[in-house]
Amino acid sequence: MRRTAGHAAAGQLARRPARAPGRTRAAARPAAAAVLALFLSGLPVAAEPLAEPCAACHGARGVSAMPNVPSLAGQPADHLILQMILFREGIRSVPAMAGQLSGRSDAALARIAAFYAALPPAPPPDRGVRDPALAARGAALSARMNCGSCHLPDYSGRANAPRLAGQREDFLAHTLREYRDNLRIGADTQMNGLMYGVSDADIAALAHYLAHRD
Ligand code: HEC
Ligand code: HEC
Repeated sequence: MRRTAGHAAAGQLARRPARAPGRTRAAARPAAAAVLALFLSGLPVAAEPLAEPCAACHGARGVSAMPNVPSLAGQPADHLILQMILFREGIRSVPAMAGQLSGRSDAALARIAAFYAALPPAPPPDRGVRDPALAARGAALSARMNCGSCHLPDYSGRANAPRLAGQREDFLAHTLREYRDNLRIGADTQMNGLMYGVSDADIAALAHYLAHRD
């Protein structure tokens, strides 16, 4: 792949050691952490003018009501910054996102990322009915394929690994097929390797299960 400044920057981001989950302290005070999270999620998030053009597709509060457009609310800021750099540099090339971020500085991207990361995640307004059999099949696959090891057991995401819980089912299925078919290549090829040879039916089950996690 052509190496660009952005690609190098994205590589650096990807190689940056993931923040320690801080298990010991968080585990010692789960109640305090839960109360803090509840408090923070109730606070109004200041509007971000840089994100105004994004609302048409990603939703005013980062929850997408548009097929194949991902929700951004509650995504880890690291994931958002990295993906925005990949779009800006044309490394992740998607017609809908082309030009949306061109000319934006890294500092501007960091502000946009902080805005969406602070918004409370929520399922899309048009989420369909949960099919228990399909969800169970997805859960079994996810356990076998260790999806929770990077995306966290509750699929809330961490560092460069995005939040999957409550994401749009159509986007999840679409993007997992793209990883499998090497049409989406991120800052690393972990997801491509993992999805290699996975059937459309298994992808549908994974997407259904994850979309119905809250
Ligand atoms: C015309 C619709 C449209 C607009 C406007 C738009 N996006 Fe997107 N965005 C998309 C689509 C579609 C995708 C999914 C692309 C894919 O299939 O890989 C996407 C993906 C993303 C992602 C990747 C999320 C992930 O988890 O993979 C980020 C981050 C993002 N957009 C940020 C923005 C920002 C910031 C703006 C405004 C500056 C914006 N988008 C404006 C349609 C749009
Ligand atoms: C070894 C760590 C690891 C494992 C295991 C893993 N992922 Fe990922 N996943 C990542 C990283 C890192 C990314 C971001 C990659 C990129 O830049 O495109 C990602 C991206 C994704 C995305 C894109 C979401 C978005 O918003 O753009 C989906 C969907 C996904 N993973 C689903 C899964 C599923 C389903 C499994 C289990 C079958 C899984 N992942 C296992 C690390 C992992």
